[in-house]
Amino acid sequence: MKIKQARDAVRAAKSIAVLTGAGVSAESGIPTFRSNGGYWKTHRFEDLATPEAFKRDPKFVWEFYEERRRSMAAAKPNAGHVALAELEWRVPTFTLATQNIDGLHDAAGSRNVIKLHGDIWVLRCVACGREREDRSRLEVLPPRCGCGGMLRPGVVWFGEMLPDGAMTRSTEAVVTADVFLVVGTSARVFPAAGLIPLAVQSGVTVVEINPEATDFSSEVNYMLKGPAAEILPALL
Ligand code: OAD
Repeated sequence: MKIKQARDAVRAAKSIAVLTGAGVSAESGIPTFRSNGGYWKTHRFEDLATPEAFKRDPKFVWEFYEERRRSMAAAKPNAGHVALAELEWRVPTFTLATQNIDGLHDAAGSRNVIKLHGDIWVLRCVACGREREDRSRLEVLPPRCGCGGMLRPGVVWFGEMLPDGAMTRSTEAVVTADVFLVVGTSARVFPAAGLIPLAVQSGVTVVEINPEATDFSSEVNYMLKGPAAEILPALL
């Protein structure tokens, strides 16, 4: 019943915004951060995902990211990613803000993607600032730039700013949307999670898709409990 109402809202929408988190890639075999088996259950993010950690021990941080790069390189988009890519073709205005760095929305065919937390396939020089896309296996860690400087993963770490304009564009998309889909995020990391109360306050119809409740579940219009790869195709 709830899914039917949510489906009607999606069908009637002219403008749709989406926020995704690690849960949308769970069924592609990529671990989340805070669910069972998630990275932050067995690792300390302070040791791996902060600029201070990288400064202290770049090789250790790079080993973590290179291992993730190898497992993400083998992953394929799932039915949830594909459903979101198809939805983009159905509505005049569509924006997908993702906290994921795995590139699976691009691989599924999504076009208007805002990468709030960067992109694991981008390497950035800490000395000259140049960036390059590189999906290859990195044999020597940390990798080096042509200028001799150290390369870092092109992701956002705790305590860092989000990419230029990413939050402004996401905010604009959310407040002007008819429907906001929130998929597979624990909604614990800000500023991304702040898009959810913003949508609620702006009167946007919010549909949350997650097997578990989050802090915002009681505030959204429709909480559809279940895995993204099942619920998204059923919804759309
Ligand atoms: P989390 O690991 O915090 O949350 C994943 C969410 O996905 C949880 O709410 C799960 O219940 C849900 N989930 C699990 N399996 C699912 C499935 N099959 N379908 C749908 N949902 C499912 O991941 P994020 O919310 O993405 O940031 O975490 C936000 C940020 O924290 C990440 O971008 C990363 C992390 O630290 C940085 O590294 C900066």
